Amino acid sequence: MKVIRKIGEMMDISEIYRREGRTIGFVPTMGYLHQGHTSLFKIARKKSHILVVSIFVNPLQFGPNEDYKEYPRDLQRDLEICKNENVDIVFAPSESEMYLKDFSTFVEVKNLDEELCGKYRPGHFIGVATVVLKLFNIVKPHIAVFGLKDAQQYFIIRRMVRDLNLDIEIIPGPTIRESDGLAMSSRNVYLNSEERKQATVLYKSLMLAKDIIEKGERSASRIIYEMEKFIKENAPLSKIQYIQIVDTNNLKPIEELKSEFLIALAVFFGKTRLIDNIIISLDGTTNII
Ligand code: PAF
Repeated sequence: MKVIRKIGEMMDISEIYRREGRTIGFVPTMGYLHQGHTSLFKIARKKSHILVVSIFVNPLQFGPNEDYKEYPRDLQRDLEICKNENVDIVFAPSESEMYLKDFSTFVEVKNLDEELCGKYRPGHFIGVATVVLKLFNIVKPHIAVFGLKDAQQYFIIRRMVRDLNLDIEIIPGPTIRESDGLAMSSRNVYLNSEERKQATVLYKSLMLAKDIIEKGERSASRIIYEMEKFIKENAPLSKIQYIQIVDTNNLKPIEELKSEFLIALAVFFGKTRLIDNIIISLDGTTNII
């Protein structure tokens, strides 16, 4: 396994692989890897000759009061995990390598960032789209895999790829969960034991919503009301930031449930912000391709 720190070196190697006709699969990460990430590596691995994983905590996607400084980092541990997963190249640039002092170009995917996390994290998805486009230009992948735990991110990247005619296949990877349903996340390490116990309410409230929908409920506001009630009753340490039901085509809220929609929520436990979601298709068609 090669560890590459320099943009120029990464670009040169990718160019050689491309000329040799080898398929490059790519999984961008911010490190502190867990099974959620390695499940994405496995998806990419199956579809490519060369698997590249990037590890870069992207300052551009953190707000001024967010956890950029505290974000967990452990490169040595991450490299061990990558080795065990048969990753071919880890691209781990420094911040100064990625962003020159006078860096001044940003990518904005409009409309899709107005609700859900985008509403509460202004500028976050500009930071994500900008770094992902840079990484795509550096790594030159044929395919890239993004986890559906960050569903809004997946839809935004897919739109950017479509709108800017990038020749990259974007593949979604399912959310990987702990045995009690909590979605795996690098931020779970912030939770104390009581918060960790109560954090299962995110997934449980999504399962409650699914159950109510299966019984015939079609009103988004009634489902959101039930989810909110469930979380408040079962997790006194929680503070709900949002619960929303949106159409997967435009990520805009809907009232009457139909075709395919995303139920997503963000909940704080102390300073730790957790997100989760499910995508439900009522007519069997799905936008997740
Ligand atoms: O999902 C993440 O870890 C990040 O948002 C990404 C895609 C690596 C961009 O920094």
